[in-house]
Amino acid sequence: MNEEGIADLDYFVDLQPKKEDFHEAVLRGLSLPQKSISPKFFYDEKGSKIFDKICEAPEYYVTRTEIAILNDIKKEIYSVVEPGSVVVEYGCGSSIKIKALLSALPDPSHYIAIDISKSHLIATAKEIASDYLNISVGAICADFLEPIDWPEKASLKSSKRLAFFPGSTIGNQIPSEAGQFMKYVRHMVGDEGFFLVGVDLKKDIKILDRAYNDAAGFTADFNCNLLHRMKNELDAELNISNFSHNAFYNEVLGRVEMHLVSDIQQMIRIDDVDFSFEKGESIHTENSYKYSTKEFAELAKKSGFGLLKSWSDVENFFCIYLMKAI
Ligand code: AVI
Repeated sequence: MNEEGIADLDYFVDLQPKKEDFHEAVLRGLSLPQKSISPKFFYDEKGSKIFDKICEAPEYYVTRTEIAILNDIKKEIYSVVEPGSVVVEYGCGSSIKIKALLSALPDPSHYIAIDISKSHLIATAKEIASDYLNISVGAICADFLEPIDWPEKASLKSSKRLAFFPGSTIGNQIPSEAGQFMKYVRHMVGDEGFFLVGVDLKKDIKILDRAYNDAAGFTADFNCNLLHRMKNELDAELNISNFSHNAFYNEVLGRVEMHLVSDIQQMIRIDDVDFSFEKGESIHTENSYKYSTKEFAELAKKSGFGLLKSWSDVENFFCIYLMKAI
């Protein structure tokens, strides 16, 4: 047992954003001309569970395609990454991908999991600690899209470092922020470091439409969870059934956008402040950028990474890039 009482882990560091951050973000976001709330607030415990269901939805090709690619490329990864590496995973939603990676690497020495959702983070980190007894495991609960004030006890232990960012979560940032995030990663991995990142590719709009409007309504529930959070955590006065999920591909900007659209003229009241909505007005809740390999390699290069290898599926839906610090 370590000092926070979390068994099996080398350490657990809690830098989780506070409830006030959600409060502040909602008040600020609803005051903007295009109302908006950051997608990072989707991932409370309930939202993380709904996201797991999205990942298994038949229309959402992202997760299963990435896992299949990872399983196919194990030998190639083994031949490139040095033994004894430290693996830092950003956003450790499910353990399947990190297990595929750890079992592909030659003798990884240490695994650091970073996630904004504490329950998911601890579950994944503990599972890895008990399944890989030769790898020491640490966990940091943090919003990793912001610069992390790297905790002293989370020592990186070795200069051989591999950052892992699966799931195309990098697509949830606008490109300039994704570039900035990759600069933080570049700083963390150092001059010898590698970056393995999963990125969703541009494709037929019909496939994207289906993936973000699944028939079971998981994505709609995921989106509407923000309204539930406002009600439960901020005592917001609002009628959830008066909002609808809307997801569409914005071809000009190369991204799927998610919105919560007001079906009627109405108000959301928080702390005695009224935020008025016209019928059809929306809260913009997520962008999911889709990149061509050329676009992504150019962005990574500006952040200090050169493309070593890339692997995609036969349909060219998804790509995993192995980058090396330059
Ligand atoms: C986590 N992220 C990569 C997902 C995506 O596809 O942009 C989040 C998501 N939103 C709706 N469905 C899935």
